[in-house]
Amino acid sequence: MMRLLGTAAGGGAPQWNCACVQCGLMRESGRERLQECAAVSGDGRSWYLLNASPDIRTQLLRTPELTPGPGPRETPLKGVILTDAELDHTLGLFSLREAKTLDVYATAAVAQALAPVRRMIDPYGDGWRWHELHPGESVKLDGGLTITPFSMGEKRPRYASDVDGDDWVVGLHLVAQKSIVYAPCFETWGEALDEALRDADFAVIDGTFRTSQEMPQVRGHLAMTESVPRLARHPRTAFRYTHLNNTNPVLTDPRDLPLAGEMELL
Ligand code: MLT
Ligand code: MN
Ligand code: ZN
Repeated sequence: MMRLLGTAAGGGAPQWNCACVQCGLMRESGRERLQECAAVSGDGRSWYLLNASPDIRTQLLRTPELTPGPGPRETPLKGVILTDAELDHTLGLFSLREAKTLDVYATAAVAQALAPVRRMIDPYGDGWRWHELHPGESVKLDGGLTITPFSMGEKRPRYASDVDGDDWVVGLHLVAQKSIVYAPCFETWGEALDEALRDADFAVIDGTFRTSQEMPQVRGHLAMTESVPRLARHPRTAFRYTHLNNTNPVLTDPRDLPLAGEMELL
């Protein structure tokens, strides 16, 4: 099962320094979307975060499945799986430093970009275990959950322009009782995504922008106008759009597009 903990792109919605009409409407109505992040479990007892958003503390506190106990420092949170090294997907690692140990899964390129973060967090716990993800290679996690990363492009974060590496962005095929595809960040629709969607019950997909004209510089994310027809080729997969940018007009006018719900359980 998967719990969606946040469904907005970096900055959230409304964004703290944005006075656009849409952010204004959300502010007035008290609606908000936290930055994109999810939690997944194969058995309802061992949970893994998919990305670690800057809003992670609030998100953990709002998620009943992640309540600590019964021991004073026991937690159902076993690890974090990163789809990329973007700041909106990784800054939350700093807020998890109270975890004595944690299994973190990332590609070599992502782990390399995060070397400074690792150096800063290491002194706080007993050492987190970092595991390398390789596209196409499945990893078995606690609770009967299997994840298979697949390559989703080479968009590297702006801060990592001088870091070498190939696998900057992956999607995740998660299989336990259900088969779920998680791909919150991609610029082009690849063969690997179609392959993963073939037997998927659910898919949670990059919905950053509605159109490619939405911002002067729409980069790094395939617009909804491009992904809608491709998703239509997978009629048995129920999908949701996530990582919604505050510029995306569907935030206040969904036009029948299935937007991920905050705290929705899949
Ligand atoms: C993105 O999704 O393109 C990045 O997270 C942008 C950012 O760093 O804010
Ligand atoms: Mn982002
Ligand atoms: Zn705005």
